[in-house]
Amino acid sequence: MEPNREIFGSNLMAIFALAGSAIGLGNIWRFPYMVGQHGGAAFIIVYILCTLVFSLPIFYCESIIGRRTGRSSIGAMRQLAPGSRWTLIGVFTVLGPLMITSFYSVVGGWSIAYLLRSCFSSFGAMSHEEIGSLFANFTGSVWGPVLAHTAFLLISAIIISAGVRKGIETFSKYSLPPLVVLMILLMVYSISLPGAHAGVEYMVKPDFSRLDARAIASAMGQSFFSLSLGMGTVLTYASYMSKKDNIISTGAWTAVFDLGFALIAGFVVMPAVFAAGLEPQAGPGLVFETLPFIFADMGAASPLLSKVVTVVFFLSVLIAALTSEISMYEVCTAYLVEERKMSRRKATVLVFVVAWSIGVACAVLPKVFDFCDFVSSNVLMTLGALAFSLFIGWRMKKAVVEAELTNDGSLPGNRKVFKVFYFLTRYIVPVGIGIIFLSNFITF
Ligand code: PFF
Repeated sequence: MEPNREIFGSNLMAIFALAGSAIGLGNIWRFPYMVGQHGGAAFIIVYILCTLVFSLPIFYCESIIGRRTGRSSIGAMRQLAPGSRWTLIGVFTVLGPLMITSFYSVVGGWSIAYLLRSCFSSFGAMSHEEIGSLFANFTGSVWGPVLAHTAFLLISAIIISAGVRKGIETFSKYSLPPLVVLMILLMVYSISLPGAHAGVEYMVKPDFSRLDARAIASAMGQSFFSLSLGMGTVLTYASYMSKKDNIISTGAWTAVFDLGFALIAGFVVMPAVFAAGLEPQAGPGLVFETLPFIFADMGAASPLLSKVVTVVFFLSVLIAALTSEISMYEVCTAYLVEERKMSRRKATVLVFVVAWSIGVACAVLPKVFDFCDFVSSNVLMTLGALAFSLFIGWRMKKAVVEAELTNDGSLPGNRKVFKVFYFLTRYIVPVGIGIIFLSNFITF
């Protein structure tokens, strides 16, 4: 580790930062519509199993590499496998986050636009036809999405330029607790709506008949995306962890918070969707297209309540998106600072310029958006996760892996987990990832 390298203030702060990275649009925007599309609670059960069997081991693989080396992804691979092809993993894990940062910022920008709209005008004053065309009109225009994307990326850049402790840690520490409180309030409200019980049932009652191979592959992919795996994000954050921190419990807490938050988001969205008699399988448009109908109907009954709920909702989406965005931004920034010896400020500006340019293309050209989403989430992320698991399972020395997970034997309780982890990482995880990867190119 470089002598002046920053580290998180405590193990709890590392958990906050990692949970902040995990909790994002994936939980609020993607998880509820995936649950809707793939059989409700049946999907949730598979999702939890995938997290335990596949995602947590990969989380630990990245953490081991990051914490062991105290370097960001490319530097870490260069240190552990100098001159070998393994260093290519580092390259994937800078390009992937750069692409996700760019298109994620576009969606983050939508949340800024919707937040401003809900502050300054009311969804309640709009007809269903107007709401129906709102999302298409907004995303189909040029200036709105580009300005919103610029604003979102700029906020992220400001946080990143403040550094690991003052920027990432402080933002995660102060934004996550209110975010969770806001979402719990929204959940209570949503569940109490007349007719909401059908949505609650939808979330808790498994429909195994809808659980096909595509649903299982989607559960695995969603679990990876949600825990920010395969992109070097976990690796980079783990490189800021102290040698005394417990990697196993940090990963477990991050997964628990991430899953808990996804379930809360599901209980915000689904009961409201059912209460309004809308389609639960609306797909990606669920949050930005379907929910405004609900806010509008609510506005007819109580304009003030509708305004408060709408503002709180889009504010939550924005905060969640920011804590994830900064984690990807940091992977690229840390690479430039550590390997290219740039100042943090210069690195932040360079990443801003590149991510802004790709993001503008994503904001105005839906094909570029879909391409970046597909390549980063389905190709680079899965290949990154596969490479990390193969590296830890087959290339790194077993004793070193065990030492890192047990803090050189000072956490003997972790030894049992290590044994299960090692078996999964060598044999089960690579096969599972191979299946998800191929599922992207096969129609079931
Ligand atoms: N985990 C984030 C979410 O659920 O929205 C998305 C994400 C963040 C993916 C960081 C990848 C990443 F490296």
